[in-house]
Amino acid sequence: MNDLTATREQRTAALEGMGCKRKRVEDIRFTQGKGNYVDDLKLPGMLHGDFVRSPHAHARVKSINSEEALKVPGVLAVITAETLKTVNLAWMPTLAGDVQMVLADGKVLFQNQEVAFVVATDRYAADDGINKVVVEYEALPVVIDPFKAMDKDAPVLREDLAGKTTGAHGPRKHHNHIFEWSVGDKDLTDAAFRKAEVTIKEMISYHRTHPSPLETCQCVCSFDKIKGELTIWGTFQAPHVIRTVVSLIAKLPEQKIHVISPDIGGGFGNKVGAYPGYICAAVASIVTGKPVKWVEDRIENLTATSFARDYHMTTEIAATKEGKVTGLRVHVLADHGAFDACADPSKWPAGFFNIVTGSYDFPVAHLTVDGIYTNKAPGGVAYRCSFRVTEAAYCIERAMDILAQKLDIDPAELRLKNFIQPQQFPYHSALGWEYDSGDYHTAMRKMMESTDYAALRKEQAEKRAAFKRGETREIMGLGVSFFTEIVGAGPSKNCDILGIAMFDSCEIRMHPTGAGIARVGSKSTGQGHETTWAQIIATEIGIPADNIMVEEGNTDTAPYGLGTYGSRSTPVAGAAIAMAARKIKAKAQMIAAYKLEVHEDDLEWDIDGFRVKGLPEKTMSMKDICWAAYNSVPPGMEPGLEAVSYYDPPNMTYPFGAYLCVMNIDVDTGVYKIRRFYALDDCGTRINPMIIEGQVHGGLTEAFAIAMGQEIRYDDEGNVVTGSFMDFFMPTAVETPHWETDFTVTPSPHHPIGAKGVGESPNVGGVPAFSNAVNDAFSFLGSTHIQMPHDYWRNWRAAKSLGVFA
Ligand code: CDP
Repeated sequence: MNDLTATREQRTAALEGMGCKRKRVEDIRFTQGKGNYVDDLKLPGMLHGDFVRSPHAHARVKSINSEEALKVPGVLAVITAETLKTVNLAWMPTLAGDVQMVLADGKVLFQNQEVAFVVATDRYAADDGINKVVVEYEALPVVIDPFKAMDKDAPVLREDLAGKTTGAHGPRKHHNHIFEWSVGDKDLTDAAFRKAEVTIKEMISYHRTHPSPLETCQCVCSFDKIKGELTIWGTFQAPHVIRTVVSLIAKLPEQKIHVISPDIGGGFGNKVGAYPGYICAAVASIVTGKPVKWVEDRIENLTATSFARDYHMTTEIAATKEGKVTGLRVHVLADHGAFDACADPSKWPAGFFNIVTGSYDFPVAHLTVDGIYTNKAPGGVAYRCSFRVTEAAYCIERAMDILAQKLDIDPAELRLKNFIQPQQFPYHSALGWEYDSGDYHTAMRKMMESTDYAALRKEQAEKRAAFKRGETREIMGLGVSFFTEIVGAGPSKNCDILGIAMFDSCEIRMHPTGAGIARVGSKSTGQGHETTWAQIIATEIGIPADNIMVEEGNTDTAPYGLGTYGSRSTPVAGAAIAMAARKIKAKAQMIAAYKLEVHEDDLEWDIDGFRVKGLPEKTMSMKDICWAAYNSVPPGMEPGLEAVSYYDPPNMTYPFGAYLCVMNIDVDTGVYKIRRFYALDDCGTRINPMIIEGQVHGGLTEAFAIAMGQEIRYDDEGNVVTGSFMDFFMPTAVETPHWETDFTVTPSPHHPIGAKGVGESPNVGGVPAFSNAVNDAFSFLGSTHIQMPHDYWRNWRAAKSLGVFA
């Protein structure tokens, strides 16, 4: 029976369900150094593998000589493309429909490309072996600039594609061209531009960067020759997909592959794809019969396994003189590096970039994206973003500011004038999406009131006047950003990975004592799923969250799921959890009715159990129902209390937010100071406000890094010049500004608990807020658009180009 002495509030609080700031249960082990990461794994007889990598960005490989390497004590094998060809694994398929060399086959196409894999008894011996492998290269001309890659006489990068005029996404129009993707109505959009009273056009670049999780990519592969089984422990954000990919390319039966993702130290998209290290470690284990560990170092991670962004977006807006937008035209040159290994759902070569109309009611729009090969690392991962959404948000949010500047309208006012109205939801965008819900005006006005936006603009005007009078060398910028995200990939009607629909899953087993275990197809890389998934179940079935254990990441025990990236966990796995819990509750209701000797319809749910309608003292708690499920179920009913749900979402979810960055910049040094950063997020129903705040803090910190300095940069020879944390900006608590967070709640109408994703939002909305602040600061000196990243040096250079040094 329920505890009748407890108040309703006490019973609700005891559950620690949705809305509660429940402390992160996983932190008990993390804060005590008891996490269990891949590199903690030590198996008997385990070997170590490491790569010989190319110093060249483009070169022919004339020969590889392993003789001396094999004499190094401890070195057991040197695997090359020739070795891999014997098992048909020299090349592997990418998620984007291209193929990628596992080890250099005839030539190398980017600096630090994997050339040979040295296997040894320990990591030091493997490194010594690497130094003894002799590779003869013949350097070839290098293409780093994606615009130059499309020149008629640009060097041919992918000789393996010679003569192929069609790729995975349609015709190729040049030897370094991958695909052209276009969306929207070109004729109507062109007509809107012909009729426009005002237009703007700007080439807005989003530079190449990298997710750089603190734990790099790594794995341990162990092949059991007797059973013919391969076990892989790895840093995988999507373990089931890895199992299927390994089965398909290694031709091993899928039931004989066991993939385990233990604790993971950050993913941010970097750990979605399959990398040569995984294939080589698996082959090495099959060849040697011993477990083989591969652990990337930092330079390898930054230079070889994936990248993010590298989008060059020529953006045009058509508008009336009053500032009402009438059309949007965007052309993107997308630099994919040497292989098209973007981690996007199969049908979306440019991810969800067609969310580029943002939060605004564009009647017409047209978008084209050209994917291009260059001599850079492949990847194109969704670095804390949902498949190119952050590029899209940056593009439209910069463009709206540029339009505001041209029309001399306040950027916040321009946005308010063009927002999709609350009554327009569900809203069909000109580029094909159906936005589920939103109340943009309320969010924007709350931001403006909370920050006293009007007073800040007044202060800025005074500062500008003082600058012009020569009384200060400091300029002030207000960076407004209003973003709409698209998260929760996704509905099977338009999202799959390698043909597998992007559903997600949950299995719940309740034990007799009123405790249970939930196994979920998502995989936390630090987001706190063990805490929040239990909160959903607690609210749904009235069992305290502390009594629910959450398990993810083991393909033998978790139901098949598509993993965690692009903030899809809450929209898809979170929904599967609620649906599985509701199946438990439905069976529980039948058991309670039987035990209370009433009809099921005479029962109503009450926080932590059922009660008979009109007889509040006649109750049965969920805890008691769990016990009854194992000893006295109704005749004909199977005992036990378990349920599984595979959830195929009917739509994505569309979180949004209003951000403001207040920044001062010293024009003589380029040094900036972030005075304030306010972030209002609306992610629908909030499961755990404390975790949401943590997600926003983390995402804003990454946005700050990207906008203000983090970059993977190449010189003309294709050398990566930002290949370590000495040069690649990784902010610490010292540089990171203070974050002010806020929220509104607009539930998703189609999600079982009304929740939308949140993890990516601060990165998506944060980058334009920082960049708009810098651009806003300089705008009164005559500048229209300054490219990111906005480090001190570039700010100083911008000031210089605007003539502030007499
Ligand atoms: O897919 P990923 O876990 O990276 O992103 P998410 O779905 O946005 O969730 C990140 C974390 O925030 C999870 O622990 C969620 O449970 C939590 N969250 C929440 O408490 N309420 C929401 N409406 C959305 C996410």
